[in-house]
Amino acid sequence: MRPYTPLELAGRNIYIREGCYLCHSQMIRPFRDEVERYGHYSLAAESMYDHPFQWGSKRTGPDLARVGARYSNEWHVQHLADPRAVVPESIMPSYAFLKEQRVTVKDVGMDLKANEDVGVPYNDDMLANAEADMKAQADPNADTMALLARYPKAKTGDFDGDPAALTEMDALVSYLQMLGKLVDFSTYDDATGYR
Ligand code: HEC
Repeated sequence: MRPYTPLELAGRNIYIREGCYLCHSQMIRPFRDEVERYGHYSLAAESMYDHPFQWGSKRTGPDLARVGARYSNEWHVQHLADPRAVVPESIMPSYAFLKEQRVTVKDVGMDLKANEDVGVPYNDDMLANAEADMKAQADPNADTMALLARYPKAKTGDFDGDPAALTEMDALVSYLQMLGKLVDFSTYDDATGYR
């Protein structure tokens, strides 16, 4: 596991601010029906850097613990902006305004430090480069070598369809796209927990 990138952390904060957890859980229980629908049951390690965790207790919508990479960025942007355009029977609210709201490192600077204070291993290098990493992650033309060295498996590129602006939509989609993708289950051994 690794800490969230600054952009993912900003997205996670938006997820909490907007109350997504009131309708979505992030906890796949070790029951056959859940594993068949959502994928491998959640491991304790997968929420070790979550403060607060987002397990939730209500599923008005589907569990999101492994929604990462299940849909394209375009699908998420369209679904968040107008859920019924994608899923006609959806009762999910519209979050189109996220495309209009800019996100900057100031939105997460204090959170990175607060997370570090409670034990998330953000190092000086990560804190010093937070702004550069945030911009690079959503810039399709950026050199992402340093970002990926600090945050392995980070998804990069333009998330919201507007490469010119770094928006809350970029942040939220970057967060959704990494959910459940940090553990490689092709090499994970259930019996020992070793990877
Ligand atoms: C009032 C309840 C409600 C709220 C609040 C809500 N959702 Fe949903 N969500 C749903 C329902 C119901 C569905 C299933 C229908 C659909 O796909 O739109 C859904 C589907 C989804 C899906 C597709 C999941 C899948 O596996 O197909 C994603 C992703 C998602 N929501 C993200 C979010 C995010 C992010 C937020 C907060 C910004 C949010 N939702 C807020 C009810 C809600």
